This record gives sequence, C-alpha cells and structure tokens, in this order.
Amino acid sequence: MGLDVHADMLYNASSSYAPSSVPVTTLSWFYTTVGIIGGLLALEQAVYRYKKRHLPGANWTIPLIGKFADSMSPSMEGYQKQWDSGPLSVISVFNIFIVMASSNQYARKILNSPMYAEPALVHSGKQVIGSDNWVFLTGKDHVEYRKVLNLLFTRKALGIYLGLQDSVARKHFTQWLNSAAADPSAKPIMMTARQANMETSLRVFCGYHIPETAVDEINDKYWLITQSLELVNFPLPLPGTKVYKAIQARKFVMHWLELAASKSKLAMADGGAPECMMDEWVSIMAEPGYKGRKDFSNYEMAQVVFSFLFASQDAMSSGVIYGFQHLADHPDILEKVRQEQDRVRMGNYQAPMTLEMLDEMVYLQAVVKESLRVKPPVTMVPYRCKKAFPINENYTVPAGSMVIPSFYNSLHDPEVYPQPDKFYPERWLDSKGSAKSNAQNYLVFGSGPHKCIGLEYAQMSIALMLANAAVLMDFEHEITPLSSKVEIIATLFPKDGCRLKLSPRGQA
Ligand code: HEM
Repeated sequence: MGLDVHADMLYNASSSYAPSSVPVTTLSWFYTTVGIIGGLLALEQAVYRYKKRHLPGANWTIPLIGKFADSMSPSMEGYQKQWDSGPLSVISVFNIFIVMASSNQYARKILNSPMYAEPALVHSGKQVIGSDNWVFLTGKDHVEYRKVLNLLFTRKALGIYLGLQDSVARKHFTQWLNSAAADPSAKPIMMTARQANMETSLRVFCGYHIPETAVDEINDKYWLITQSLELVNFPLPLPGTKVYKAIQARKFVMHWLELAASKSKLAMADGGAPECMMDEWVSIMAEPGYKGRKDFSNYEMAQVVFSFLFASQDAMSSGVIYGFQHLADHPDILEKVRQEQDRVRMGNYQAPMTLEMLDEMVYLQAVVKESLRVKPPVTMVPYRCKKAFPINENYTVPAGSMVIPSFYNSLHDPEVYPQPDKFYPERWLDSKGSAKSNAQNYLVFGSGPHKCIGLEYAQMSIALMLANAAVLMDFEHEITPLSSKVEIIATLFPKDGCRLKLSPRGQA
C-alpha cells in the first residue's frame, strides 16, 4: 500500500509540476531527485520486509517515521495488541527495526543472552545520565562493577536503611494527614507519593549528608529528568529543550551527591557508624578483609547513587501508588494486612520497624508481590542486538536491531496465575501453587546479568510504606472513569493519579 500511495504522488507531481515553459535542465534535476527519493523509499521498504521475514507486523512501514505516532502516545491497549500478535513481532520507528518478544521463553532468552543483546536506554539516556556512568558498562566490566555494588544491598545494609525509610514515611504521612485535615476532599497521590519516595531514597543513599533544604529542589529537578525520557527527543540538547533541562538538573543533583560522598568519607574516617548507603560503602572499603576496588572517587560514588535514583524513582512510585490503589479497592485484603500488623507489632505502631518484623509479615509481602504482578511498573526493557541473534531456529534478529522483551504476558499468564487480572495475594501463600512454582514467570525485576540490583530494597520500601499507611491512616479511593486506565510515563500509573481521601485511622 505504501508504494501505491507513493506512485500516486509521483504521478501527480509529474503532471502538475511540469509545465512546458520549464527549462530541460531543471526538469531533469527534478526527475533525478524524485527518482532518488523514490528509490530510497523503496529500499527502506525492501530492507524492512527482508528483516521482518515471516514475523507478524505491518507488511509495510510508514516511510521514514514508521510507528512514530504510536510511540508518542503509548497505551496498554496498543502494546497488548502488539504482544498478542505473536511471541515475536516487529515494528519500525524512524528506521530502527524493533523485535518485540512477548512470551516468557523469548523474554528470558533475550535477558540472558549478553553475548548477543545488551540493555539500550532511550536515545537521550546517555546525554541525561552521563555517558561515563557505570550503567553503560557491559560484559566483564559490568560484572566486576556490580560485584562491589551488590555489597550495598546485603541484609546488614538493608537493616540500616530500614530505620531511615521508616522515619521518612512517617514524616510524609503526618504531612498528608495535616493537609487532609485542612481539606478533607480526595486528592491524587501521584506527586506526593513521588516526593515521599524521593526523600526516602535520598536519605537511604546519602543519609543526612544532604541538607534538608536541598531535598525538595532535588525532587523537582528529578521530575525534569523523568520528563526528558521520551522515546524520541529533539536531537540537539539546545537551551529550552527537555533534554537540556534534564542535563542541567543532573549537574545540580550531582553537585549535592558528590558533596554527600565527601562528607560521608570524612564521617567514616572520624570513626562514625554507617547511617546510610554511602557510609556503608565507605566502611566496607575500609574493612581489613575487603579485596575489591577501594579508590572510588566522590564523583563515581555520586554517579552510582544518581543511577540508583534514576532507576528507582519512577518504578518505586508506580509500585507504591498501585499498592495504595489495590488496598483501597479491596477492603477485605486491607483488613487482613491490618490484622497481621496488629499481631506482629503488638499494637505498638510507634516502635520503629525492624527486618525481623518485616520477615514475619508474610501476608504483606504477598500483597506487594501481587500488586507488582498485576501492575508491573516496568512492562518491558529495550535491548540492542550487538550481533545477529539466532533467537530460534527459524528467525535471526538482525545485528543493530532493538529487541524488546515484554514482561506483561509472563506476569498475566492464566496458566500460571489463574484469573490473571485479579488482585489475589493468597496465590503467593500456597508454597506448591502455580505462582510459587513458576518463579521464571515473575519478571517484575527482569532476569539475567542486568536484573534489578535494588529489588529487595524496592519491595521492602513499598511494604514499609503500605504497612505504616495501613496502621496510621484510613484511605478511601474516589473511583473515577480513569482509575482503571493506565498512563505510561516510562512506568505505569493510574490515569487519575489515584485520588485518595485520607484521615487518621479510626476517625473516618
Ligand atoms: C518497584 C521498583 C522497581 C522495579 C519494578 C524495577 C525494575 C527493574 C527492571 C525491570 C530492570 C531491568 C532488568 C533487566 O534488564 O533484566 C531494572 C534494572 C535496574 N534497577 Fe530496578 N526496579 C525497581 C527499583 C529499583 C531500585 C530501588 C533501585 C536502586 C536502589 C534500582 C536499580 C536498578 C539498576 C541499577 C538497574 C540496572 C542494573 C544493571 O544494569 O546491572 N531499581 N530494574
């Protein structure tokens, strides 16, 4: 069809723009140019068809832009249609050939084939994060770097972080309740939950080496960074563009993070006990038995924390917001969470939470796991094929293509999760049930060498926020026609931002 339209255009062009008075040389230039453009467009289609072979997907690609319009306003319905078209299917955007993998088998194969495929951020990613950030390492260099960073998520380290998470969550819920006292109407928690998450992560990563005054501004600047992560941006980061603003925001944030690293080093050198991730990192490097790299500069430590904030902020906010929405929409499940809280915390909600307490909150953990399954914050991750990738015996993904494993179908597979759209935490309590015995389907945090490094911290954070919210507040969901619709802003959010009416518990 694309070529037919193009032939029409050529015909019309030649009939209406070729008056007899036009000199012959101009006409010949005109026909040559049209011929070259026509040839290039035909080549574009031929290359697309050659790469696509038998896989599902449009037979022709829209010249030059491909499915650009769809990628500007992504919708779950649009993605679902693509995923349902086959375990492997293709699209093309701006001549980037993309293979979408929707089945569990192919998704895992891509994530676990570092020889062929590596993570590929959106085009603006390197400009925004900084191309020298560790997240762009691959292969052995990546494995070595990650080995050190894994030490920041040991149980001992998570125990240090929990106290900070607990106090920041309480502080924010007190603020939420104060605002609700002034105006009790339902309000979206989208931005307030983001803010609570950002402060929690900043405190966990940098402790009080970041002054109170900088926290809000860092949060605002991070929103500029999130907004810049569109699939396609204006190519040059000129002043006024989203990417430009995001780069300025990164410089601002990095200034505070570097300062925090230097303060942490001083505090640990003075014999202080680790109170945050940076402190823990510095003190691990000073341990006598530590054999890893020791010379991390303030800049490198700041870059790592920046990457953690970058990777976590949106996904954790999505997880928390849907956690609230699921609990508010299922009062029976919220009641069970509260009963468990009463039992484990023995009615003393002021006492800080400990890891041992969280271990005992098995139902709460099932709630978090299920909420992330029903609405996975990250539905897919873009990878790029560094060489031709024989994904099965009938198809080889061409070198240079994008290949995008999707997690949604794995997480909504009715064979593994009967009634997959139902929010049903009980499915995680049966040790022999299909959910528990098919761990390979739970791709919320990815799989393979780039699997989320913060998965335990993230689940702990969401659990802690929901636990404290359940015991401190009553929350009523004002359901709107948009509550069940999904907005994709890098991660998933309810389209109305989850409108909650809050009040102190027992006073509703
Ligand atoms: C609910 C919250 C979160 C979700 C759903 C999530 C999900 C993911 C996913 C799907 C990936 C890609 C995995 C792959 O390619 O196989 C990833 C990678 C990553 N995540 Fe998370 N994440 C979350 C929270 C966090 C947090 C809190 C941190 C930091 C403390 C973090 C740090 C990272 C990093 C650094 C990577 C890249 C790892 C690498 O390349 O080695 N994430 N995450």
